[in-house]
Amino acid sequence: MTKLTIYEIPEPVLRQKAEPVENVDSTIAKTLADMLETMYAGHGVGLAGNQVGLLQRLVVVDCAGEDEKPNPIKLVNPRIIAHSEDKVCHNEGCLSIPKEYADVDRYETVIVAYQDEYGQNQQIAADGLLAVALQHEIDHLDGILFIDYLSKLKRDKLLRHLEKKRRQKMEEEQ
Ligand code: NI
Repeated sequence: MTKLTIYEIPEPVLRQKAEPVENVDSTIAKTLADMLETMYAGHGVGLAGNQVGLLQRLVVVDCAGEDEKPNPIKLVNPRIIAHSEDKVCHNEGCLSIPKEYADVDRYETVIVAYQDEYGQNQQIAADGLLAVALQHEIDHLDGILFIDYLSKLKRDKLLRHLEKKRRQKMEEEQ
């Protein structure tokens, strides 16, 4: 497996729409395995194709708790086919917006249809953190980031904070 480079804002690929995967072949299976490894290395709970520079509708998630055994899910062409009326608020982060967090409202439960790494059609009914993560990752495939749901004031504050950290890091490295 290969650890991939995670693209961070403002990389344009994060704002582009990923294309549907036509053939779920061994290359796709390899990419999904690499994405999972990259996600674990970054201590994330989800990762989408755009985040590793691939405009393919690929998502990996693992929402198992620290004391639980891993529960990796690899999704090709995931789409939400049903969701609850109710929403829940969750403090979200993103490997492409490192170490910045904000509260976002998402549907409490979703049903997601997708193909697995063997090209088989699957469905998953999700609630809790998994429901949040799936919505966050599917957004990535459409070029949407969690900061898009914030007020301009909150978003600007978060982005300024990120820039400040980046400047400090650059100065430390000089
Ligand atoms: Ni993200």
